[in-house]
Amino acid sequence: MKILNIANLYAGIGGNAKEWDRSKCKITAVELDPKIAEVYKKLYPEDTVIVGDAHEYLRKHFREFDFIWASPPCQSHTRLQLCNQHKSSLKYPDMSLYQEILWLQTFFRGKWVIENVKPYYKPLIQPTFVIGRHYFWSSDFIMIPGLLKTKSPKGFTDNNSLKKIKELEEWLGIYLEKPIYYGNNHSPCQVLRNCVHPEIGKYIFEKITGGKS
Ligand SMILES: C[S@@+](CC[C@H](N)C(=O)[O-])C[C@H]1O[C@@H](n2cnc3c(N)ncnc32)[C@H](O)[C@@H]1O
Repeated sequence: MKILNIANLYAGIGGNAKEWDRSKCKITAVELDPKIAEVYKKLYPEDTVIVGDAHEYLRKHFREFDFIWASPPCQSHTRLQLCNQHKSSLKYPDMSLYQEILWLQTFFRGKWVIENVKPYYKPLIQPTFVIGRHYFWSSDFIMIPGLLKTKSPKGFTDNNSLKKIKELEEWLGIYLEKPIYYGNNHSPCQVLRNCVHPEIGKYIFEKITGGKS
């Protein structure tokens, strides 16, 4: 059996990769935030974890992998930006999302997935498939069974309470030893909300890499 060499870019705490079968693959995760990378390493000790810039890592290393998953940050694309329009912190949409899609479409010979939230604008490149609140650009189109539309828990965007953290942990099956904070975000729920649901990550991974369906 061929062991797949996989890059998990913008790894976060690895919701997307939680259920990937480590006996069939060797995973390199790249995450910029050292605190988040440390949690990832504890959750998935078999994976290689690199603390660094995934955008630059992709450009330099894409040829080394059979499958690449990238989850670039969604903050500048999300519809929540519409609520920020009067704030001085309002940001341009980060075009590295589209740079990476074009890069992989054009130069990468392996299988790949780039995931982001549904944006507040018409996507500049049509997604290959859609699941719930996420758009997926990919080397492969896959049919999504209705069952998989793993619904976010009620009050998904509510913040902060310990009860909410517990609820998100239960929903994902990922448990944090202590709250961690994403960037300047004041909510300890954000790292959990950032996750692709493990069942979705598993389904896409198995369909695209030819694992069991
Ligand atoms: C949407 S989250 C990833 C979620 C992950 N795919 C999951 O399912 O759990 C994006 C992550 O990218 C990280 N990040 C932001 N900019 C980065 C960069 N330039 N290089 C690597 N990681 C970065 C953030 O710290 C955050 O943890």
